[in-house]
Amino acid sequence: MNNVLVTGGAGFIGSNFVRHLLAARPGVRIVTYDLLTYAGSLENLRDLSDPARHVFVHGDICDRGAVDRVVAEHGVDTVVHFAAESHVDRSIVAPGEFVRTNVTGTFTLLEAARAAWAGRADVRFHHVSTDEVYGALAADAAPVTEHAAYAPRSPYAASKAASDHLVRAYATTYGLPVTISSCSNNYGPYQFPEKLVPLMIVHGALGKPLPVYGDGGQIRDWLHVDDHCAAILAIVERGRAGETYHVGGGNQPTNLEVVERLCALLDARYPGAAHAPHRSLIKHVADRPGHDRRYDLDFTKLQTELGWRPRHALADGLAATVAWYAGSGAWLAAVRDSDDYRRWIALNYDGRAVEVT
Ligand code: NAD
Ligand code: TYD
Repeated sequence: MNNVLVTGGAGFIGSNFVRHLLAARPGVRIVTYDLLTYAGSLENLRDLSDPARHVFVHGDICDRGAVDRVVAEHGVDTVVHFAAESHVDRSIVAPGEFVRTNVTGTFTLLEAARAAWAGRADVRFHHVSTDEVYGALAADAAPVTEHAAYAPRSPYAASKAASDHLVRAYATTYGLPVTISSCSNNYGPYQFPEKLVPLMIVHGALGKPLPVYGDGGQIRDWLHVDDHCAAILAIVERGRAGETYHVGGGNQPTNLEVVERLCALLDARYPGAAHAPHRSLIKHVADRPGHDRRYDLDFTKLQTELGWRPRHALADGLAATVAWYAGSGAWLAAVRDSDDYRRWIALNYDGRAVEVT
């Protein structure tokens, strides 16, 4: 691994991964390739200032010519593919962009890699995927292993499932050296405040309602983004080509419990706030259509084969995340000033407060 193409490196997990890889592997050069959609921002990469080790290229993963050029120009031998439309709620409102980016975009990257790397074994295409491809788990079902059947239920999950299938097909049909990681819900710095954790932190700090979908009894497995980045690096470097590895945190609070924990952290940080205690801001609103009740991955394979362990306890990780958002006013101001953010919040939250309990 010398020249790494990180697609979606200006987004939440991608930018954390770029930072992680630069620190962990001093010999590696990185090209971040990103379209800078609403979710991507150069603000997320602002502190990276060594052009000898990191360059940014603005481009679309669906643009084959541009992808070919960046792969050739930078002698790319490793692709770590994060670029995607990533928010389930947006996939319900506008699924077309999810098919374009997640399916056609992944296909375009695979074609570019196949053409550039014909016959090479010293290369790697790593695809970053999600636990959502398995669909909702029953309350008493065992955690899913890498052998479980796919059953995606949202347009986002279906588009990610389709891209996973394409990646595997390129391994079996063309011998492309691929790996896939399927990960649970991430939280941490630089996450766009449309997802549960940052949305609750930002709304809580502003004294706005904290919208919990339905009864809030849905279960996600929360993992700090640093742990995800370490897992991806281990898989890219030491994972077996053709294999899929699950990545999880082993934390299964309900959504309501996550929000309550965040409220307690906000109480501690802003004890004099007019709206304290923050839990008084919690509002149960109409549920997400087709809302998956529970996800839970078995990530034994990653632990036993590659020795990876999550290092961040959820309580510490959430506290650090609240502190990061509280201390990142300039970053947050840039996000909140964007037309897209204003539109999304106005459309989905400011007018949505439909109480169900
Ligand atoms: P994000 O929405 O924060 O970032 C996505 C990035 O992709 C943005 O920088 C955006 O500009 C870029 N992008 C979008 N369309 C593009 C295109 N056509 N060409 C080039 N760049 C484009 O997403 P994230 O939360 O960082 O997720 C990254 C990856 O990890 C995704 O593939 C997602 O499915 C997967 N994943 C996310 C989570 C999670 O909890 N966030 C969990 C498991 C897996
Ligand atoms: P989210 O962060 O959108 O991630 P995902 O849908 O990929 O799991 O949502 C996490 C959980 O939180 C999910 O069950 C939906 C719920 N949720 C709310 O209750 N309120 C919100 O405002 C958001 C954004 C999510």
